[in-house]
Amino acid sequence: MNPVIIAIDGEASTGKSTQAKKIAEKFDYNYRDSGAYYRAITLYLIQNNINSNENINHSILDNIALEQIYKDKKLTIYLNDIDVSEKIRGFKVSVNVSNYAKIPEIRNFVYKQLRKSVKSNSLVIDGRDIGTVVFPDATFKFFLSADPKIRAERRHKQINDKSVKLESIEEEIKSRDNTDSTRKIAPLKKADDAYEIDVTLLTIDQVFEKILHKINSK
Ligand code: CDP
Repeated sequence: MNPVIIAIDGEASTGKSTQAKKIAEKFDYNYRDSGAYYRAITLYLIQNNINSNENINHSILDNIALEQIYKDKKLTIYLNDIDVSEKIRGFKVSVNVSNYAKIPEIRNFVYKQLRKSVKSNSLVIDGRDIGTVVFPDATFKFFLSADPKIRAERRHKQINDKSVKLESIEEEIKSRDNTDSTRKIAPLKKADDAYEIDVTLLTIDQVFEKILHKINSK
């Protein structure tokens, strides 16, 4: 049987990874967080003082080894064998990641990692361009959207760091959405055949029910 691929794309902080993990759990599929790859690469480049306007080519990217291990409902991200799962969620990476994610060499680097993950395994992947570019033939495609204020409030609660202001998070989310949806390569947009869910007024379980209903009714 061909592996099942479920793409969960959408705007920043719409709960894509939460839903993706729930689906992976329910069907016993593997899970990949494509944004985590862009975040880990961004962390590496910031740590090495390499700006997003520099020529970022193979000789730089070849120094980056990324691994994602999804086990017991927990995703661990390794950058050159170091666990960076927490670090890549920091504000510095968040405000810079979209500028690095515009770079074609970086995108191709991530595409290779993602396509390699499938082999014969069924997979749930969340991101921005999974259903449009990376796996246009995905078995199921979902697109999550929500009011930016609500998204900022949810992310603010999640990071639980009083030094980061709610307004800064809202600004960062809006700015990221803008950069992601206006870039030339693989912009953030709903695939024509994706099922869109506006999660503004829905709980995690309500969104999950909608997703399950769609999957089970195919
Ligand atoms: O969790 P959140 O929705 O805030 O973001 P993320 O999934 O961790 O993605 C971080 C950033 O990586 C996005 O804002 C995009 O700039 C980039 N990204 C991308 O370009 N393509 C993807 N498939 C996934 C993420």
